[in-house]
This record gives sequence, structure tokens and C-alpha cells, in this order.
Amino acid sequence: MSVLQGKKVVLGVTGGIAAYKSAALLRALMQAGAIVRVVMTPAAQAFVTTLTFQALSKERVYTELLDTDQEAAMNHIDLARWADLVLVAPASADFMARLAAGMANDLLSTLSLATTATIALAPAMNRQMWLNPATQENARLLRQRGLQLWGPDEGEQACGETGPGRMLEPDVLLAQAESIFASGSLQGKRVLITAGPTREFIDPVRYVGNRSSGKMGYALAASLARLGAEVTLISGPVALTTPDRVLRVDVETALQMEEAVMARASACDIFVGVAAVADYRPTEIAAKKIKKSSETLQLNLRKNPDILALVAALDEAPYTVGFAAETDDVEAFADAKRRAKKVDLIAANRVGGSRGGFEGDENALLLLWEGGREAIPMMAKPVVAERLAERIAERYHIQANLG
Ligand code: C5P
Repeated sequence: MSVLQGKKVVLGVTGGIAAYKSAALLRALMQAGAIVRVVMTPAAQAFVTTLTFQALSKERVYTELLDTDQEAAMNHIDLARWADLVLVAPASADFMARLAAGMANDLLSTLSLATTATIALAPAMNRQMWLNPATQENARLLRQRGLQLWGPDEGEQACGETGPGRMLEPDVLLAQAESIFASGSLQGKRVLITAGPTREFIDPVRYVGNRSSGKMGYALAASLARLGAEVTLISGPVALTTPDRVLRVDVETALQMEEAVMARASACDIFVGVAAVADYRPTEIAAKKIKKSSETLQLNLRKNPDILALVAALDEAPYTVGFAAETDDVEAFADAKRRAKKVDLIAANRVGGSRGGFEGDENALLLLWEGGREAIPMMAKPVVAERLAERIAERYHIQANLG
């Protein structure tokens, strides 16, 4: 049963082409057992009609602040008090600006001011509008005031451009909504997590490294933080924003990552190695940029420390979780890796196929621990991260009780 069962959600819809996706979100919330009331701004109604949401929710849709009929059914203060969660999807640049300014000039902005429930915004807009300093400043302000911003995602936009500003998909928003009500099963626990690639320098401008977007590690850090953990994220170079309530430490090389991890590992309860650490580094880093005068260039490489194995070998090792990217015979290789590195849980994924893995937005995992396994099917990375975080929390507690 979903944690959303019986939870009261105001689904706010503002003006944007992504409003059509909110119909799917409404259905997903209802299927999870949530009781949903839809509030639309006038601009939203230019994109989708109230009838769509009314038919799906089987409830009246609220649009007006000063309509005695609507206010008689449930006025803006009733709605504000009724809600356990106010989820605005899509949240337009205009709506964010109005909220940031504290305006109350329509029903949705007014009830947002009046509620003590969690407010979550799923921004959706053209990428220039999102990147505009005014919108960025509004986003920062709203976050600072405790509102949650879910997304936006990057990718192809309805306006034909590509970049940040897409609304997160309904299944991802559903997972985020569930995490709001998930019990704090890792409350007070310290989690250390690595993510992203490392860069191993050849000279001051060039490096060798691995492909890794950091998306899986960042999503997992966010999910673990939502379970109540104090999360420290040791991150290689990636183009991602730091998740809410996560402390991020930036590193570039495997040796820097090792140092940052080992300085904190004994003090943590759970260590998760998601980083795609480069296996080798050049034995020497040239002090000056190497000239491309010769036809061939030889690099001498030395093996990097295996950070995950080092943490697992500590006297008072935390609960350790590793990843294994395999091209074939996934289960056998991953299980061998789990034993060799002495990690408590390994999350294996197949790489080299058409979906999932390094840089994509989706992933499927096979989780293996001593005496157990679980397959997480191909889904958006934040959804996979949510499931994995819950399983890590559960296995951690079982192990802690045994120990
Ligand atoms: O051996 P392999 O690189 O496949 O192992 C992957 C797992 O080990 C991942 O969890 C990764 O973060 C971790 N690892 C590490 N340090 C390395 C290599 C891998 O922590 N040098």
C-alpha cells in the first residue's frame, strides 16, 4: 500500500504546456490512494479544461477566489487547512514569481500563502525563462523558505529548444510525493555517498576518466536524505544541483575522493559507492601542457585505490553498498564483486544496452545481499533511487539488529 493512501493533496495547475501531463499525475496520485482536489489558475485553463480534471477526479475543480459558489463548497482557507500537501505541477515562472513576492491574487497563490502543509513545485518553462536570473533568484528564495522544488528536468522542450525547464514526469513526481510521507527510517543516521566520475590528470589541461552523469548517485543521495539521513555526498565533476538537505563535497581525482571518504568513513553508519572511479591514473602528471609533436603518446598508468573495498575493510566498517556495472552475466559477476570487496549489498546493472546505465535517465537494478535478491525494473532514476534507498534502510536495520 502506498504511503499516499488517504493523504489529502491539493494539485495546483498553472499555465504551461506541461499542464496536460498533470492529468496523468492526478490519476497516478489517485491510484496511490490520495484524495486530490484540483485548483487551476486562469492561465492553466487556456491549456487544459476544468472538465478534464473534473472527470478524472470526480470532484469539482476550484478556479476562483471570489466566486461565492466555489467558496461555499470549500473556501481558500478550508482548502489550505485541508491539505497535507500542496503540489503545483506545472509551476510556471509567473507563479513562482508571485509566490516569491508573497502575492495572493488568485485562489492557488492565496491558499499557498495560507497553508502550513508542505508546498512542492514542479517548475516547467522555456529554458531561458528558467535560467533567467529573476527565476533563479525566485527559486532560491522559495527553497530558502522551505518550499520544495522538484525538477525541472533537462531535455527537449515543447518550444523546440533543449535544456533545463521540462516538468518531471508524473511517475517521478509521484515518487517525490510518496517520499514526503515516507517514515524517517534513517532519522539521525549518517550516510556517506560517492557519485559522478573522477578525472585523472595527464597534464594541467587533460585527463582520463569514466563516463558518468552522476544522476543515479544524486537521486540516491536525495532519497536517503528524505528518509531522514544526514547525507554527505562526495562528488566528482558533474552538472547537477545539490539535492535538498545534502552536504556536498567536490573532488576531482580518485585520490582526492579517497581522502575525502576516508576522513569521514569511520563516523558514518552507511557508505554507498556510486561513483564511477577511474581504475587507473597516470603515474606522473606533466607540469606543463604536453605538446602534440609526436605521432604516438604513451601513458603509464597506476591502479587507483578501491575506495569501496577500503571502507568495507575498516575495523568498524559502516554498512556498505556498492554498484556493479556489468555487460554480461550480471548476477554472477556482481555477486563475485560483492564477496571480493566484502560489501553488504551490491546494486548491479547491465550496461552497454540501449537503455539504462551511465548517462541515461532510466535504470534497472538487481540488488544482491547475503541470502537475498531483488530486481528493480527499468524506471526513471529517481524512482529507482527511492526503491533502493528503502531497501538500503531496511537491510541496514536488519544487519544492525543482528550485529
Ligand atoms: O570494481 P568496480 O569498479 O566494478 O566496482 C564498482 C563499485 O566499486 C562501485 O560501487 C564504485 O563506486 C566502487 N569503486 C570504488 N573505488 C574504485 C573503483 C570502484 O569505490 N577505485
